[in-house]
Amino acid sequence: KIHTKNTAARNATAPHLYGLMFEDISHSGDGGIYAELLRNRAFQGSDGNTGPNLDGWTPIGGAKLSLDRLHPISDALPVNLQVDVPQGARGEVGFQNTGWWGIDVRRQTYTASFYVLANEPKQKGRAASLRASIRSKTGTQFGSAAVAKRVWPTAEWTRVELPITVTQKASNENNTFVVTFDGAETAGMTLYFQLISLFPETYKGRKNGLRKDLAEAFADLKPSFLRFPGGNNLEGESVQTRWRWWKTIGPLTERPGRWANWGYYNTDGLGLLEYLEWCADMSIEPVLAIWAGFSLDRYGSSGTSIHPNAMEPVVQEALDELEYCMGGPETKYGALRAAHGHPAPFRINYVEIGNEDWFSRSYGYRFRALYTGLKARYPNITYVSTQWDEVGGVKMELPPGAMWDTHHYEEPHYFLKNFDFYDNWQLRTGNKGVGVLLGEYSVYQSDTPSGAVNFQNPPDKHVFYPQMLSAIAEGVYALGGERNPHTVKMSSYAPSLQNLNRYNWTPNMIQFTAHHDRTVLSTSYWQQWMFARYRGTHTLPVTNTGGLNPLYWAAAIDERAKVVYLKVINAGKDVANLAVDIDTPYSAVNGTILSAEDAKAFNFVDHQTSVVPRPLSLPAQKSSTGNFNWKVPAFSITVLQFNL
Ligand code: AHR
Repeated sequence: KIHTKNTAARNATAPHLYGLMFEDISHSGDGGIYAELLRNRAFQGSDGNTGPNLDGWTPIGGAKLSLDRLHPISDALPVNLQVDVPQGARGEVGFQNTGWWGIDVRRQTYTASFYVLANEPKQKGRAASLRASIRSKTGTQFGSAAVAKRVWPTAEWTRVELPITVTQKASNENNTFVVTFDGAETAGMTLYFQLISLFPETYKGRKNGLRKDLAEAFADLKPSFLRFPGGNNLEGESVQTRWRWWKTIGPLTERPGRWANWGYYNTDGLGLLEYLEWCADMSIEPVLAIWAGFSLDRYGSSGTSIHPNAMEPVVQEALDELEYCMGGPETKYGALRAAHGHPAPFRINYVEIGNEDWFSRSYGYRFRALYTGLKARYPNITYVSTQWDEVGGVKMELPPGAMWDTHHYEEPHYFLKNFDFYDNWQLRTGNKGVGVLLGEYSVYQSDTPSGAVNFQNPPDKHVFYPQMLSAIAEGVYALGGERNPHTVKMSSYAPSLQNLNRYNWTPNMIQFTAHHDRTVLSTSYWQQWMFARYRGTHTLPVTNTGGLNPLYWAAAIDERAKVVYLKVINAGKDVANLAVDIDTPYSAVNGTILSAEDAKAFNFVDHQTSVVPRPLSLPAQKSSTGNFNWKVPAFSITVLQFNL
């Protein structure tokens, strides 16, 4: 029975309960939501720690491609593409890039750009033109644009930007970006190129912005926050290769990128300012994770912790970062942000100190140094700790008002069993006034007798694509959060994006390839979608006669819209009879259901709609005064909406 009358028994729901976790893992950033279509655009290398290379680039018409280190465009991008056109060349000569395992081509205007230099004395006074085009691998020309014939050499690097209009959609992603010259005009010449880029139209039209379909899928979840930039990817495989915020801002020619935590080079084209703009464009709260003096050192055992006496520069680094985000034009870093095109300060309300610091034994002093140092300057920010109980034998004490970020990659039964974990959590654990961010959670493997997650991913246990049962278990855990809004303030599935061509981690909420039509929104995505979309302003008490399992539920009311939401999950394999009773009249009840006959059902490429939410018809009820009996389908997640 849903009780709407006793308003004193209602609790305000957590306004930021559902959000996004994002880090560059599984090419979710470079080759993913960062809309740059070309791989290895600055010749830093891409996958595998090989250093600068020509991955992704191949010659056309007998051109010779090599790496040039003699004409650095900047300290950040010291290695260029050298193109030698053979003597006696004829016809088309140049080079191409095959993108991030293909290039999505559809009707729109693309922006191609590159820096070019042709300063060899041997070619003084020679005139040549350049052409950039988008083609299929089989030769179909989708669009092209040219730089008019001009006299070389250019003594300095010259930036060229070319709009390429495409009027036809390619049937697949087997496409390339091509830069060509006329062989006869350029025979014997040497040209250098740097930062060769191709952007499609982006989410909300941002320059250097986000891939539209993935950003729209995120936005459609109606998230309330974005936690970034990691995850492990914040921490670095070494202190030197950590995510250094100041190396991710400013002109792209000034961003060196980094050998990051997930086995590939990050260009940092998606840098601090782009993350903040992402938040602004989706009107969501940034949850900015700052580096907390610990790197993972993946191949070592316990990572590297900054010594207690050396924490001051770490605190200063974070203070400078916050000034870049929030400072006015009179401040050093606020002025820098303005120079980067964003004069208006952002507002940061949440700062997470580190990531998963239970891997270290040093978080106690690191957290204290950062919390104290930042709080003194920014008292109104909510600080998130990655640990609450004990680190290195020392009990952590989280100050009231702080939050704890907890991560769970588990089996389905774990989430079912922990439906009530957050009931009385603050009292039970002595963390009065401390909120919880369920910062990373997802079903990682099928139920096993031991319940121990095996990160070696044995195929008989591991879940590759989120299944219906994953969504159910995650949904049950989320209901536990909805019931405890004083404690559980935020939650996010992780990881959120997976490039199916090269990935580090499965399962993920969304899978994709270069071709937008092949993007997969998983069962877990749809569970998040339903829960985030249908949320009330206040919880409502529900009394019941039967016990929990297989049914789980929570109710809320939107006091402004006058709608009651009842979320019901049937985690069992049989239909369950439920007598629904609401103590107030309503004009209509509608439902949205996600269900599958098979608990292991999942969405995958070319079968993207196997399990998607659909409207629920409720034939059994006609009453507008209250009770009705409802047969809740097996393996289902439902949200009923009562319009009062
Ligand atoms: O989500 C993948 C990884 O899992 C994150 O980088 C890390 O925080 C966690 O261990």
